Amino acid sequence: MHNMHEVPEFYTGSPIDAADLRYRDQFLDQLWETLQSKHVLLTAPRRTGKTSVMDHLRTLPRDSYSVIYENVQDLAHPADFFAALLSRFYDEHPKIFRDTLGTSWGLITKTLGRIEEFSFSEFKIALRENDPDWKANWKRHGAKFLEQIRHHNTAVLLIVDELPDMILNLGAEDKNLLREFLAWFRAQRQDPQPKHDKVRWLVGGSVNLSGTLDAMQMVDLINDFEDVSLPVLRDEDVKDFVRSMLSGRDVQFDDNVPERFLEHLGRPIPLFMQMVTQDLYRHWKRYKLRLTANDVDVAFDDLVISNAARDKLQHYYSRIARYYELPQRTAAHCLLSQLSLSRNGLNRNRLFQEFERILNEEGLDTPAHRRKQQFNQLLRDLENDFYVSEITVNHYDFASGILKAWWKKYYA
Ligand SMILES: Nc1ncnc2c1ncn2[C@@H]1O[C@H](COP(=O)(O)OP(=O)(O)O)[C@@H](O)[C@H]1O
Ligand SMILES: [Mg+2]
Repeated sequence: MHNMHEVPEFYTGSPIDAADLRYRDQFLDQLWETLQSKHVLLTAPRRTGKTSVMDHLRTLPRDSYSVIYENVQDLAHPADFFAALLSRFYDEHPKIFRDTLGTSWGLITKTLGRIEEFSFSEFKIALRENDPDWKANWKRHGAKFLEQIRHHNTAVLLIVDELPDMILNLGAEDKNLLREFLAWFRAQRQDPQPKHDKVRWLVGGSVNLSGTLDAMQMVDLINDFEDVSLPVLRDEDVKDFVRSMLSGRDVQFDDNVPERFLEHLGRPIPLFMQMVTQDLYRHWKRYKLRLTANDVDVAFDDLVISNAARDKLQHYYSRIARYYELPQRTAAHCLLSQLSLSRNGLNRNRLFQEFERILNEEGLDTPAHRRKQQFNQLLRDLENDFYVSEITVNHYDFASGILKAWWKKYYA
């Protein structure tokens, strides 16, 4: 048995416990510092470690913040947004909740008065029962919620995970309501100014919010956030991870194993880093043979066809359908297929030719300058979303070796 206190377990999907979170110390410092004077928008692709960082903020808060975390991925209305935040607040900080909200806010006092203890979901129901017009009254309740927090003596950090998804849901149902919500939310973030406010927002998501709102001409409604992107793990971190997770479990391996691992991984998607390392460990446990670079090759090949990885990889394919507009959507799938077939990637001109071919095939007679714009935007989105990276000047390839192998196998 390895020492459970020194070597973290493998995490293959769930957020990492604060005590086990590594390679994020500097980023956490930076984030807390930014939060002193700003509201933050944290973006990074899925499975890269956003929620883990948010959990750390929540579990080990600094500067005497009370922290509330809520994932709003499935919500589609501002009223649900506030009901969820309020219920979470009640659930996580019952004492502060009573002190700040329960004393001079009729609705809450009434809700709390009804039963002594209730669960998160019961509270949510009770809240609505006390105001049958809860849905229509979201602005009033939202404003009251923030006002009450502002009367409290310590600051409250509201972490809203996957807000871009809620925005997409809301936009699909009611564009005007979305605009109204974003404008109202923005006004709340401006007055008082963040540095004089007890309320602090940290909003996170896997989707490039600016891109989404840009298409709907609403990007000015979020541009006051401080844009922070989750740093990509460094080569050193990846090698340290492999080394320490294996040595910590008394696994023997050749010196070149971490380096070979890094070559296959490409731009590190932390989830895949965990899965392959775990696979190597299992291999060792089974055969008790010193691990070699060849075992690493096999472990990466195996991952691509494993059941465990299928859903996670499938997500990268499906998200294009969900978040990319036409004609970029079709083009993205085609360009990625072309790239997956290439040995070492393709240059920008070649990709642009391919892009034009797709537009023609689709029967689109987009003017030349607009084509160029759309192409540039597409390439930028694919880069931001971790699909491709510019390996050398004007030369592109898949960012992740795993994704490339998988794409080639199933979609090319
Ligand atoms: N700092 C880290 N070190 C190692 N693995 C990580 C780290 N952060 C995230 N992971 C891996 O990524 C997975 C997803 O993490 P999560 O925080 O849920 O990402 P996101 O919220 O961006 O989808 C985890 O289960 C773990 O495998
Ligand atoms: Mg997450």
